[in-house]
Amino acid sequence: SLTNTLTHSLTNTHTHHSAPAVADDERSWTGQESLAQDDPEMWDLLQKEKDRQSRGLELIASENFCSRAALEAQGSCLNNKYSEGYPGKRYYGGAEVVDQIELLCQKRALEAFDLDPVLWGVNVQPYSGSPANFAAYTAVLNPHERIMGLDLPDGGHLTHGYMSDVKRISATSIYFESMPYKLNSTKTKNNSDDYNMTKTKSKFAVKMNTCVCVCVCVCSAYARLIDYSRIKKLCTELNAYMLADMAHISGLVAGKAIPSPFQHADLVTTTTHKSLRGSRAGLIFYRKGVRSLDKKGKEVMYDLEEKVNFSVFPSLQGGPHNHAIAGVAVALKQAATPMFREYIAQVLKNSKAMAEALLKKGYTLVSGGTDNHLVLVDLRPQGMDGARAERVLELVSITANKNTCPGDKSALTPGGLRLGSPALTSRQFKESDFQQVVDFFDQGIKIALDVKKKTKKLSDFKSFLLEDSETASRIADLRQSVEAFARPFPMPGFHDH
Ligand SMILES: *Cc1c(COP(=O)(O)O)cnc(C)c1O
Ligand SMILES: *[C@@H]1O[C@H](CO)[C@@H](O)[C@H](O)[C@H]1NC(C)=O
Ligand SMILES: *[C@@H]1O[C@H](CO)[C@@H](O)[C@H](O)[C@H]1NC(C)=O
Ligand SMILES: *[C@@H]1O[C@H](CO)[C@@H](O)[C@H](O)[C@H]1NC(C)=O
Ligand SMILES: *[C@@H]1O[C@H](CO)[C@@H](O)[C@H](O)[C@H]1NC(C)=O
Repeated sequence: SLTNTLTHSLTNTHTHHSAPAVADDERSWTGQESLAQDDPEMWDLLQKEKDRQSRGLELIASENFCSRAALEAQGSCLNNKYSEGYPGKRYYGGAEVVDQIELLCQKRALEAFDLDPVLWGVNVQPYSGSPANFAAYTAVLNPHERIMGLDLPDGGHLTHGYMSDVKRISATSIYFESMPYKLNSTKTKNNSDDYNMTKTKSKFAVKMNTCVCVCVCVCSAYARLIDYSRIKKLCTELNAYMLADMAHISGLVAGKAIPSPFQHADLVTTTTHKSLRGSRAGLIFYRKGVRSLDKKGKEVMYDLEEKVNFSVFPSLQGGPHNHAIAGVAVALKQAATPMFREYIAQVLKNSKAMAEALLKKGYTLVSGGTDNHLVLVDLRPQGMDGARAERVLELVSITANKNTCPGDKSALTPGGLRLGSPALTSRQFKESDFQQVVDFFDQGIKIALDVKKKTKKLSDFKSFLLEDSETASRIADLRQSVEAFARPFPMPGFHDH
């Protein structure tokens, strides 16, 4: 029988492994075993990842090191609870505690961003940033209605409507009509010329009377501040909703270090695990109260709350991740403290120190510098690209990511590398430490340039790095210096995993 065959093959599989301390069939499994006891293979992988994070320089601008407290809430019994619906209106019993957790998370989300609960509400159920954006669009748009977001090669996110010349790539361009706007140039020193929506606007506005539109602003790889009032003005002219996706910068907004999009936007989405430094999830903030006055001077009210609620559940999601909501609530409490403000102030100081050190070494930065937590290095003037640089840096334990620069054609070998300061700042790095980081970075780029001269294709480049003994030893030396520097810095989270 099938059962016999399965039992047989399982038994056989077991004989191939080394014998566990207690034979599987003698042990009564209660689910109380630790990960180390229950699954040494996975435990071991976690140790490896923990070690990788501790000995390396984490410069990925979207990453951060979450606190132990938030991770404890996330890795908890809350994982077990189903609670489709909203507090007080669930489709399952036993939700009295998770109701309180969700309400607490909402309250803290509004407090962290100084929002008046009369004027703003928040949905804390989105699983992450991408689902939050799709839910926000679905809340206010019918299929094929329009989205105007910053193009991905210019620093926008996939979910802002990305499509290439030949293919609709993000679902936001498959189900809605995407009309992206672009950055002006890589060399702009002054952001007032950077994003010019005028051209897109004229396309966007065609047949306006039949469309609801969303203007998406704020992006993944833009190092300057956004002039929200300019975008708001355009949205008002278009009768469009203004959606600010503050995923990257929400920590900076909560830390009161940069202008807040809440003053102008109708909808604000964010992730919780980037500069906000929390566990992994998404949030949608929506306005309540009066939206505008109609021709007769009568008040037109926002109706976003019901639309956003319905879009997140039941339209797009099932049961909320109560463990994630609890982790986010813990992080949002932290984000409202003076300590967090200090952290964010240091994130900005470090990012500026990094930008200055890079400029001093002759690197070109998109937009000429930074006003936030990231810099986008344009490596094209060096004759380098982001893909090769990323690979060499990875081999010397510096983690960064390749990124398109304005004017780039290929997303696979783009011209830029994006570097952010939030993660290392969570490990107590200061300005002088970032100068050292740039020094290591520069040494890595020099290796990449030397190897690029000797190879042609990206694949040749990559194998040369490992096979050429002189290069391999340069890489090993640099990696050792990087790791010796990085390891002593403290690491948030659990000590053992
Ligand atoms: C990271 C990011 C997202 C997507 O978040 P995920 O959690 O990765 O789905 C959306 N928008 C922006 C601007 C982002 O930076
Ligand atoms: C681009 O920027 C330049 C220099 O700042 C400016 O003169 C020009 O008008 C801008 N072009 C567009 C299309 O915005
Ligand atoms: C940028 O240009 C605008 C308009 O010309 C000006 O008001 C602003 O002060 C400039 N900002 C910087 C940082 O130079
Ligand atoms: C944007 O570009 C248009 C031309 O396409 C130009 O007339 C306008 O002045 C530009 N606006 C800004 C703010 O750069
Ligand atoms: C939307 O959901 C929130 C809970 O997240 C709830 O407080 C609110 O009453 C709901 N609003 C509507 C209009 O259903």
